[in-house]
Formats: sequence, structure tokens, C-alpha cells
Amino acid sequence: MHFLITGGAGYIGSHACLRLLDEGHEVTIVDSLRRGHQGAIDAIRSAGGDRVAFVHVDLSDTARLTSTLVDRRIDTVMHFAALTYVGESMEKPLEYYQTNLGGGLSLLEAMREASVRRIVFSSTAATYGEPPPEAMPITETTPQRPINPYGASKLQFEHVLRAECAALKDERPLAAVALRYFNVAGSDARGRVGEDHRPETHLIPICLEVALGKRPHLTVFGEDYPTPDGTCIRDYVHVEDLVDAHVAALRAIEPGRFKCWNIGIGRGYSVREVLESCRRVTGHPIPAQKGERRPGDPPSLYADPSAIACDLGWQAKHTDLDGIVRTAWEWMRRHPRGYA
Ligand SMILES: NC(=O)c1ccc[n+]([C@@H]2O[C@H](COP(=O)([O-])OP(=O)(O)OC[C@H]3O[C@@H](n4cnc5c(N)ncnc54)[C@H](O)[C@@H]3O)[C@@H](O)[C@H]2O)c1
Repeated sequence: MHFLITGGAGYIGSHACLRLLDEGHEVTIVDSLRRGHQGAIDAIRSAGGDRVAFVHVDLSDTARLTSTLVDRRIDTVMHFAALTYVGESMEKPLEYYQTNLGGGLSLLEAMREASVRRIVFSSTAATYGEPPPEAMPITETTPQRPINPYGASKLQFEHVLRAECAALKDERPLAAVALRYFNVAGSDARGRVGEDHRPETHLIPICLEVALGKRPHLTVFGEDYPTPDGTCIRDYVHVEDLVDAHVAALRAIEPGRFKCWNIGIGRGYSVREVLESCRRVTGHPIPAQKGERRPGDPPSLYADPSAIACDLGWQAKHTDLDGIVRTAWEWMRRHPRGYA
């Protein structure tokens, strides 16, 4: 099959490209390189040779997306491209709606023009907002009440996909899956690509940057939450398991049907547990300082992934935190300056 991968120069998209190439498929990457890396494209090219194409384009360019879909004879789209920082989305809501909702609409329009009717969309646990502790673990029917423009823009695009799948009198109805990821971590087992967000806001790479000497310490935002050690609890899913979920989702994709699944390991780890794991894996003391709670950080967020286990047989293989951290550390140790 031939896949269009939006955001393929980014963290998760680059891992998806490698996985699809490993399975013998072709990939065409579209990315503006606003947050992605030419180095990731180079690594994907060296793995896939002439089965890889890269088109440097913004999602807003519907005409170019359409001609890419037609010329490259794309069967299926995996849509990873987005702006992804919660805090930034509070400062620049318009940009977030433009990219995450407007960019998605442009892509759907191009898909309609090009008669490409299959899409897997990267949604997020941020669409659930701040569910109360008694709502854990989060299922697909937990009310979606996002509390920032990032989560809201992702949820609105889910609504568009759902409506488009159900469009009346559509001769070629859309087939769409939204996967709501929790916290994604780790790297390709063969070390070909890794995580290089700038700025980095995710806990595991931040701890590892301290171990590399790139930061003086970790700030722990809040140590007085109603959790066993007082720090926030999150669900960390390995990026390779996440990519497996995308491949599994392809089996369920059906014309006229919108499906969504939560993707997590089904248990949470606290900030303290993650910090201790990073200390064990790196052998570095990773100093930590106490910080204030951040607004909008719920004490605990973790997935109930049983729906996708039941429907598609997908289950995370990496459930040991040290194992997840180790793959992230291997890549960062070898690439202390990321893709630079
Ligand atoms: N990383 C996580 O923990 C996490 C958790 C939940 C959901 N997600 C979702 O997964 C997807 C991928 O996340 P990531 O961590 O790989 O992010 P990333 O920033 O590493 O990758 C996003 C890619 O999209 C590209 N992009 C951004 N705007 C674009 C535009 N207008 N046109 C074309 N390309 C554009 C960027 O250049 C980048 O390469 C996102 O949709 C994100 O919302 C990620």
C-alpha cells in the first residue's frame, strides 16, 4: 500500500514511516518542517530508499496536497501533523485552530478531490480535559470536555471526521479512525529515529536532558496532589506500540464508519516514579526542584485501553517503565544534540 504521512518529519510520524516501510509499504511524507526535522526524513530515506518521497508543504495548501495524493496514488492517509503544545495553544489559539482544525479540513478536501477515502487521525487524551479521579481509567465514553485550544481543536476535527463518515448520499463515504493517545514515549528499537521536540515539554526527555547536562534540574510541578506520592500520574505508551495500534486500526477501517480508541498501557506512573526510573536507567542523580502546580494539570490521567484490545487484539507490549525509558535514553545518548 502507499501511505501519505502528514507530519512524518516529527517524532511519532517518523516512527510510523519506519514501521510501514519495514512492512514493505511505500510512504509519502508531507511536512512543513515547522517542528519536524530534515534529519528524520534522511533517516527514513536511508531505511526505505525509493519507497520514500518527501513533499515540503503546509497543510493549508489544498491544491498541492491534492496533486500529491493523485500523483503518488495514495491509498490511505495517516494524519500526524499538528501543533501540539498545550501552553502555546493558550497563547496562540488562532494558530492552533488554523493548523489542527483548518489544516485537517484542507487535507479532507484534498482527499475528496483525489478520491482517497481512508484516514487514521492522531487524536489525544487532551480531548477529555480534566476528568475527576473517580472517572479513571478513561474510556472512550468518558465525556470529552477539553480545557485548552489544543484539545478543543483536536476534538473538533474528530467531529468533522465523524460527520463526514456519516454524510448522506455520499457515493464514496469516508472511512476514519481516531486514536486518542495518552503520553507517548521511547524510541525506535534500532535507534534510527527518536524524539527531538523543541522546546521539549515531555517529562521523560526532560529528565534525560538533565542527565545529558543540557538542563540543570527537573522542576516537579506540584507535590501535594491526592496521589500516593503527591505527584501527578500519567499513562506512558511506547511509540512502537502506538504505531502498532495504527497498523491494527487499518484492519477496522470501513467506508462510512468513524471509530475511535484510547491508546495507553492502562496504568499510570507518577512524576516521582518516572524520575526514579530515569535515574536508574541513566545512572545520573538527575536533581529535581519543587515547583508550583500548573493550572489544568489533573492529578491522575490514565487510559482504559480494553476497547481496542477487545476489538482488534491490540495491547501495549512495553509496560515496564524502565524499558520505555531505556529506548529513549539510547537514542538521546547517541544524539545528544537531537537531529541538529
Ligand atoms: N507526543 C505525544 O505525547 C502526543 C500525545 C497525544 C497526541 N499526540 C499527537 O500526535 C501527533 C504527532 O505528535 P508528535 O509528538 O510527533 O509532534 P511533532 O511536533 O514531533 O510532529 C508534528 C509534525 O507536524 C508538522 N507540522 C506542524 N504543522 C504543520 C502544517 N501546518 N503543515 C504541515 N506539517 C506541519 C511539524 O513540522 C512536525 O514534523 C500530533 O497530532 C499530536 O497532537 C502526540
